[in-house]
Amino acid sequence: MSDNRDIKKEIERRRTFAIISHPDAGKTTLTEKFLLYGGAINLAGSVKGKATARHAVSDWMQIEKERGISVTSSVLQFEYDGYCINILDTPGHQDFSEDTYRTLMAADSAVMVIDGSKGVEPQTRKLFKVCAMRHIPIFTFINKMDRDALDTFELLDNVEKELGIATCPLNWPIGSGKGFKGVYDREKKCVILYSDTEKGTKEGTATEVPIEDEAHLKELIGNEAAEKLLEEVELLDGASAEYDLKEVQAGNLTPVCFGSALTNFGVEIFLKHFLNMTTTPLPRTADTGVIDPVLNDFSAFVFKIQANMNKAHRDRVAFMRICSGKFDANVEVKHVQGNKVMRLSQPQQIMADERKILQEAYAGDIIGVFDPGIFSIGDTLCMPKENFRYEGIPTFAPEHFARVRQVDTMKRKQFVKGIEQIAQEGAIQIFQEFNTGLEEIIVGVVGVLQFDVLKYRLENEYNVEIKLENLPYEHIRWIENKDEVDVEKLTGTSDMKKVKDMKGNPLLLFVNSWSVGMTLERNEGLKLAEFSRN
Ligand code: G4P
Repeated sequence: MSDNRDIKKEIERRRTFAIISHPDAGKTTLTEKFLLYGGAINLAGSVKGKATARHAVSDWMQIEKERGISVTSSVLQFEYDGYCINILDTPGHQDFSEDTYRTLMAADSAVMVIDGSKGVEPQTRKLFKVCAMRHIPIFTFINKMDRDALDTFELLDNVEKELGIATCPLNWPIGSGKGFKGVYDREKKCVILYSDTEKGTKEGTATEVPIEDEAHLKELIGNEAAEKLLEEVELLDGASAEYDLKEVQAGNLTPVCFGSALTNFGVEIFLKHFLNMTTTPLPRTADTGVIDPVLNDFSAFVFKIQANMNKAHRDRVAFMRICSGKFDANVEVKHVQGNKVMRLSQPQQIMADERKILQEAYAGDIIGVFDPGIFSIGDTLCMPKENFRYEGIPTFAPEHFARVRQVDTMKRKQFVKGIEQIAQEGAIQIFQEFNTGLEEIIVGVVGVLQFDVLKYRLENEYNVEIKLENLPYEHIRWIENKDEVDVEKLTGTSDMKKVKDMKGNPLLLFVNSWSVGMTLERNEGLKLAEFSRN
């Protein structure tokens, strides 16, 4: 009984979230500051520590590059204020791939970092869409206020219009760039003055001035800034959405904080607000109904498979999100899709290049286990006496396509085997011409780096040389109502191409979004989807 109480306590103090942003908005810097508050980074040595940490990470990247695989998305776990926090890294930059989207399936909420001088950027928009599909709470940090930023009302308007989510500012910036004076805290009704002296430490106290004390305020931030602030606050109180925790947790309203990750201003306040409002590990839906994180015994699902982390052994690591109960390394569990009871091999927590073997973990945590080639993305693990499957992970629309040709046609068998295995790991998606056999293979990827990965891996692991011919398609749509539609007879635009995926689902490829709209117009009743659950 006391064990159950401990499990409940452990689960309820977990917060598992992803940080989403466009490259360069400040995701890494903000993460580093979070770790600093959590004591995971040594304070005194933080600047030096940062350089060393970067060095270590880049070494790891080089190794992975040589092996031709994308960088591991890691999980950072740290303690703060009694919470056990799991941050899921969503690979950005060149290694942006379908994995980036899948990682979001393992999160219970997301922190969205926006560069105050740029507003919503393309990668943020894509990642946001995936979060919105799951209705998870999203918390916005508008960063780089120490640099010239866009007008604050414009920024909020940009988030609302671009992403279709209501915003609720928790604080309000006073100027930006050289004129950045601090933020107005709407709850405390006071101004917190900007200081960049906290950079690498969490020490240093913020000066708080009540907004009613107009004279003092003017003295501290100047007449002009004070008057502008009073005006904006009045406008804001009348115009912005009311704070409503239910709406936040339903993913309809995003709380917004302004700050500067680099100078460490506004970060801890944001973290505190975030932890206060975000959710404990969420229940997940299985084919037997909803699985409660606390009431149910151990269960998990695989959301990512990392191939060949050690080339000598051709090993794979399956990353799983624990959805309920406690994981105990000594207890046997059931791999539902394989219908096999087993002990998970070498369960570990993976942080960049560090691996820590785990004995136990709880709902909300992410573990990596050695995979002898039995797991697939979306697979369920549970206790041997149970039998249920979690809802699968959707297949996301690739954005780049190429035709694959074998250089040596004698090696057909290896080629097919290699390409199918790599597709099974989820690094690429394979499509065929709608009416032909395997002869013509089209590969689709979310990030272009995956083309290089495919070429490299086929050469190195399967001894097959390929040539890739880029195709102009940028949009792919699954036919949602495929049973009601005669795909042969669909009339699209001249650039449209009909293909099918490995499961035989029909899909349409388009060069531009205009063609998608035209095709929908020309075929009444046709329903197209940007991801597939089949
Ligand atoms: P990312 O992970 O989202 O790609 O962004 P990252 O944190 O690496 O930040 C991108 C650049 O923006 C870095 O500069 C970083 O120092 C800077 N930056 C992050 N937050 C702030 C902020 O609040 N204010 C200002 N002024 N800059 C910020 P860099 O020159 O590319 O790298 P580095 O040499 O400084 O590490």
